[in-house]
Amino acid sequence: MEDKPITPSPNLPNSNAAPEEDKSLMHIWGGVPLQGQVNISGAKNSALVIMAGALLCPDDCRIQNVPSLVDVNRMGQILSALGVKVERKGDALHMNARHLHHSKAPYELVSQLRASFFVIGPLLARLGVARVPLPGGCAIGARPVDLHVRGLQAMGADVHIDHGTVHASVKGTNRRLQGARIYLDYPSVGATETLMMAATLADGETTIENAAQEPEVVDLANFCRAMGARIRGAGTNTIIISGVPRLHSTDYSIIPDRIEAGTFLVAGAITRSDLSLFPVVPDHLTAVIAKLRAIGLHITAETPNRLRITPGEHHIATDIETLPYPGFPTDMQAQFMALLTLSEGDSVITETVFENRLRHVAELNRMGADIRVKGNHAIIRGVPRLSGAPVVATDLRASAALVLAALAAEGKTTIQGLHHLDRGYEDLGGKLLKLGAKLQRVDDPEADAPVIQTVAPGQV
Ligand code: EPZ
Repeated sequence: MEDKPITPSPNLPNSNAAPEEDKSLMHIWGGVPLQGQVNISGAKNSALVIMAGALLCPDDCRIQNVPSLVDVNRMGQILSALGVKVERKGDALHMNARHLHHSKAPYELVSQLRASFFVIGPLLARLGVARVPLPGGCAIGARPVDLHVRGLQAMGADVHIDHGTVHASVKGTNRRLQGARIYLDYPSVGATETLMMAATLADGETTIENAAQEPEVVDLANFCRAMGARIRGAGTNTIIISGVPRLHSTDYSIIPDRIEAGTFLVAGAITRSDLSLFPVVPDHLTAVIAKLRAIGLHITAETPNRLRITPGEHHIATDIETLPYPGFPTDMQAQFMALLTLSEGDSVITETVFENRLRHVAELNRMGADIRVKGNHAIIRGVPRLSGAPVVATDLRASAALVLAALAAEGKTTIQGLHHLDRGYEDLGGKLLKLGAKLQRVDDPEADAPVIQTVAPGQV
């Protein structure tokens, strides 16, 4: 009997489920066009750093439009371990860091969330001391933090690494960081954010040159300014921060997630559907929209914060090179690779940001794609069709690419390793079901979980 789609678990997956314990599966039956409008959640990469930024303030802060994600849960647990009050009320987090102390966050939590390293700047700025486990690498790369460390040292912090922990402290009577002129060898998003946060409470003026320009950096700057920080130039390659003695409460709402929006644009493209997305900030998607149009899709801004994608006649092979913003985002590379497997002709994708972010190639080839990897280049020869197959997700955006490929493939695909997906997408399965996708998420195949029958719109 054909499985019927069920609504995936409405509760957030267990944020502490270790990957090896992850038995969840997603079955997707491809070839079904999507339709309707999808709601885009708050930006994961804003939420995580802004949660750390709230440590700069010794009063109540409310952060709204926070997506319900495993990584956000984990960050909340880490901040609580540092003495911060974190309470979720709907899509808002109520935080208070008055009783912040620098005891090291539990390693077992930090090791599962690289973004936990963001606490080092605020801890140093608030307390003059910080002990933060060194974030490990991950599937996509070594993810060093040398640019963060060198910048903090330039601001007067004594930083050394001992037994996998970064020990940082500020000497001097008032134990305050000093403003400095910092040049980043690479426009690192994380290093820009760490140093910008640290500089908000430093003595004097800090200039960050060759700074990252991502929208999430601007979102963090706007959040800090809402707390009284003095920051100019966020969104350009030079950010100037004038330190102030103290920051105050604020109520702030996070920008929509441009990578989730880009992922749904590709979902519409690969299934040749007519989809609308809301809310979005089209300016945050300039490179993504330009590439979709080059491939042959039609994208229109129905209102200032609503985008619509409709299919074109042919999907044309297109080359892509990932670059720091405003270049093409590395976080959209895997998703576009899935789309280009079905485009006419040969496309070349060059990944310049991370050294190991082509691991989805093998799984896409198992679905009938024709992709060859040479160094940091993937040569994608378009094929007429993909075929469903059992596949395994290797990292967050790779898992999204497999979902997209499955939506277009002939037959059934089963994806393992959904813990990757749950880190960065709020209920992706549920949102796709609402658009008419034919899928079933099974969180624990062994359990005799009741099968909740629902019928997605357009399916009788
Ligand atoms: C942020 O990671 C994002 N994560 C990533 O999103 C995103 O891919 C990346 O920026 C680039 O846009 C969050 O914001 C939580 P980087 P981050 O520092 O800050 C090297 C996703 O899928 N580097 O800009 O770690 C580094 O090795 C995730 O949502 C150093 O050499 O990125 C990499 O090659 C994945 N030394 C390059 O810079 C440093 O001290 C870009 O890294 C720091 C970085």
